[in-house]
Amino acid sequence: MGERKRAWFFLTVLFLCFFLSTHLCIGAGILSVGESISGNQTIVSEGDGKFELGFFKSCNNSQNHYIGIWYRKISEKTIVWVANRDRPLSDDYSSQLKMLEDGNLVILDSLKTVIWSTKLTSTFSTEAALLDSGNLVLRNPSNSSDFIWESFDHPTHTLFPGVKIGLNKVTNQSQRLISWKNPKDPGKGFFSFELDPAGTSRFVIVRNRDKFWSGTWNGNVFSFIPEIRSNDIYNFTFVLNQKEDYFTYNFYNSSIISRFVLTELGQIQLLTWQEDVGWKLLWLYALCGGFATCNQYGFPMCECLQGFTPCTSGGCKRNTPLQCQNNASNGEKDGFLKISNMGLPINPQFVAVGSARACELTCLNSCYCSAYAYDIHGCSIWEGDLLNLERLSGGGSTSEKVLYLKLAASELSNWTSGGNKKGSATGAIGGSVIGVLALLGLLVVLVWTRRRRNLVEGCLVTFSYRDLQIATKKFSEKLGGGGFGSVFKGTLPDSTVVAVKKLEGLGQGEKQFRTEVSTIGMIQHVNLVRLRGFCCEGTKRLLVYDFMPKGSLDFHLFHEEKDSKVLDWKTRYQIALGTARGLAYLHEKCRDCIIHCDIKPENILLDSELCPKVADFGLAKFVGREFSRVLTTIRGTVGYLAPEWVTGMPITAKADVYSYGMMLFELISGRRNIESVGQKFGYFPIWVARKINEDGEILSLLDHMLEGNADLEELNKVCKVASWCIQDEEVQRPSMGLVVQMLEGIVEVSTPPIPRTLQAIMQNHEHIVFFSEPSISNQNS
Ligand SMILES: *[C@@H]1O[C@H](CO)[C@@H](O)[C@H](O)[C@H]1NC(C)=O
Ligand SMILES: *[C@@H]1O[C@H](CO)[C@@H](O)[C@H](O)[C@H]1NC(C)=O
Ligand SMILES: *[C@@H]1O[C@H](CO)[C@@H](O)[C@H](O)[C@H]1NC(C)=O
Ligand SMILES: *[C@@H]1O[C@H](CO)[C@@H](O)[C@H](O)[C@H]1NC(C)=O
Ligand SMILES: *[C@@H]1O[C@H](CO)[C@@H](O)[C@H](O)[C@H]1NC(C)=O
Ligand SMILES: *[C@@H]1O[C@H](CO)[C@@H](O)[C@H](O)[C@H]1NC(C)=O
Ligand SMILES: *[C@@H]1O[C@H](CO)[C@@H](O)[C@H](O)[C@H]1NC(C)=O
Ligand SMILES: *[C@@H]1O[C@H](CO)[C@@H](O)[C@H](O)[C@H]1NC(C)=O
Repeated sequence: MGERKRAWFFLTVLFLCFFLSTHLCIGAGILSVGESISGNQTIVSEGDGKFELGFFKSCNNSQNHYIGIWYRKISEKTIVWVANRDRPLSDDYSSQLKMLEDGNLVILDSLKTVIWSTKLTSTFSTEAALLDSGNLVLRNPSNSSDFIWESFDHPTHTLFPGVKIGLNKVTNQSQRLISWKNPKDPGKGFFSFELDPAGTSRFVIVRNRDKFWSGTWNGNVFSFIPEIRSNDIYNFTFVLNQKEDYFTYNFYNSSIISRFVLTELGQIQLLTWQEDVGWKLLWLYALCGGFATCNQYGFPMCECLQGFTPCTSGGCKRNTPLQCQNNASNGEKDGFLKISNMGLPINPQFVAVGSARACELTCLNSCYCSAYAYDIHGCSIWEGDLLNLERLSGGGSTSEKVLYLKLAASELSNWTSGGNKKGSATGAIGGSVIGVLALLGLLVVLVWTRRRRNLVEGCLVTFSYRDLQIATKKFSEKLGGGGFGSVFKGTLPDSTVVAVKKLEGLGQGEKQFRTEVSTIGMIQHVNLVRLRGFCCEGTKRLLVYDFMPKGSLDFHLFHEEKDSKVLDWKTRYQIALGTARGLAYLHEKCRDCIIHCDIKPENILLDSELCPKVADFGLAKFVGREFSRVLTTIRGTVGYLAPEWVTGMPITAKADVYSYGMMLFELISGRRNIESVGQKFGYFPIWVARKINEDGEILSLLDHMLEGNADLEELNKVCKVASWCIQDEEVQRPSMGLVVQMLEGIVEVSTPPIPRTLQAIMQNHEHIVFFSEPSISNQNS
């Protein structure tokens, strides 16, 4: 794995593009008055020569030249700063970077026109120096620590460790990162990362200057993602005081080469350089677009609101235009859909009206109004795109937030007549991965796994779309929305009840679809959901499965307000074992090993006897490896994903083992592994790791709904197995076959070490509340 290059497609694109020119170095990092560089001449930073400044081309075959700074000692030319980002030069040999007598550093084109300047008004002379920190400074020649100008105050898309970004309230100087236009063009792109101009003292990602995309940074954490907290490798600092508001980050080991980058797709990435691997992604933060909700706890992370479908430019668009924007329509009035448990969008407008009804009318009468909310603070309305929608975790303990979304009358009847849609109280929505695809997929080449096989459809039934429309009563009863599309309940003419999955966003050819489906159709195991048939007509792709009357595991574990019975320990153990058997079959017994890639409680279905069946296996193939990597990396920050999804290592069946381990924790505790309580958050695996390694008081880990009713030995075993499954190193994780043997009691389970990642998170306990501590759990039930 040593020489393996990063597989992260667009990162690679970014760097492949640069022309590695040989250079002629100038002085000890200094350009004095009257001196200049041009062509292949460069300036190497003072000291160790870590950085280099000079002309670069944005691409081999491009005629555009820029002045920039890059790392000198690493093998991939990585640009970290650009001077003339929006004014490229057509020729580098006739252009100059020159230190003028008036104290300004300028770029002159072949006609000696100034196309970029430091724009200082001082008239005393300065010298330009490139420091080993990557900072290009203009300084007083007689006092090398007197900086008159520095590039750190004018960052482009990269933030260096230790450098501040924010607002200096004394000088009124602010900094922000602005993305590149695309990997080949360092010009100012669509996104910026900056202190909220609206003065909320939070960092936001802004698109097109005026539009806010979801994702705010409170200085400590982006939402509730533990991987992005300070840890023992790096820390984040966020300071708000009279003089300045800023954000910065630092690696404790200053010899680590790192970058914090805002990509052209509006993602924030933290990367470190490793000579044998290349740029290694430590984490990534992505966004959802307009009318899309960001669900930190679910998958897909971005989903469209009801009545909206993903659009190619990111975000979601209305299925049916509002009446007010469409005078030709039949005159039915627009209405509102109530959505609960929603973090309200940003940029509300406050309207001084005294009742909910008046608030509603205000919104109804404004063509631009998209939604309103009315609470103790009064009436808020939103115009245009709704941004920063965040699905709040269930539980209902937090003060309820209700948003009323304006929809066309026809849409509204779709969504309100169904009645018993699953989870409608928390506004479950038509899940689709396309929103994410649209955002990220621009550069992602879907690599379809091609495989030759006879088009034997075996015992699979081919349905016509019409058959399925009838069976599902025009797709009226939605069971849920998964990663690949929505699932509807249906009844076949012989009264068999089925679940029909409408696949979304597959651009796949018919032949290939049939091939993959027939592969899946051949797989049969008591712990795998059986595929009965499919439909493939035009662009329509549907799969027909056995219906599972008890729904999915998450429903039983996390939706306590429902009248369903609490799963007893014995059942949970059987679910753990059955799921392991199903996965072991997929990994080891099938003709081709199938990696599920998406193990989580939502994908474990229960039949009438509560026997677990793994759903959606084989579907990862439909979207191809590259896409699933991108998709799941984002989701990976939420918790079921093995580290190799993020680090770019090859994905093996051990990635499923990791996700399975994470799911076991949830089976034990009856809660999501990551939960937020006010400003604090809990991360259950840490608590387990401590208990089994330290005091061994494992009963406190058990779902309190079980009131201590569990077989202690089994509980202990499941905790240990789960901790083995989530080890950082794949080799340390057991195979699913071994997990089955451990749970069956054939193989002894030893005490696992605490995974490194957990250790890192534990370094920073002050922000972490462990479950079962009296302050957060109410055990007085
Ligand atoms: C730099 O460019 C000059 C002029 O074209 C050329 O003679 C020289 O060989 C180049 N230097 C290097 C190190 O490539
Ligand atoms: C760009 O130029 C470099 C150096 O000459 C070369 O190694 C690389 O293959 C070229 N890349 C492309 C895409 O042509
Ligand atoms: C050099 O400049 C720094 C920063 O402006 C200042 O603090 C320091 O006193 C100066 N030193 C001398 C010798 O003037
Ligand atoms: C900074 O900007 C604010 C608002 O634009 C203004 O009120 C303030 O006077 C400015 N301060 C300085 C020192 O220029
Ligand atoms: C973060 O790490 C840097 C470098 O070790 C250190 O100087 C700084 O004080 C740390 N900041 C916080 C908030 O711990
Ligand atoms: C810091 O990082 C460098 C390079 O990665 C490594 O060689 C060195 O051992 C590290 N130092 C410490 C104290 O961990
Ligand atoms: C709809 O009608 C209103 C008022 O009659 C008018 O202002 C508006 O431009 C019309 N909109 C469209 C899309 O025709
Ligand atoms: C809702 O109704 C509209 C108009 O009848 C229709 O076009 C649309 O497909 C329906 N949407 C759903 C999700 O059923």
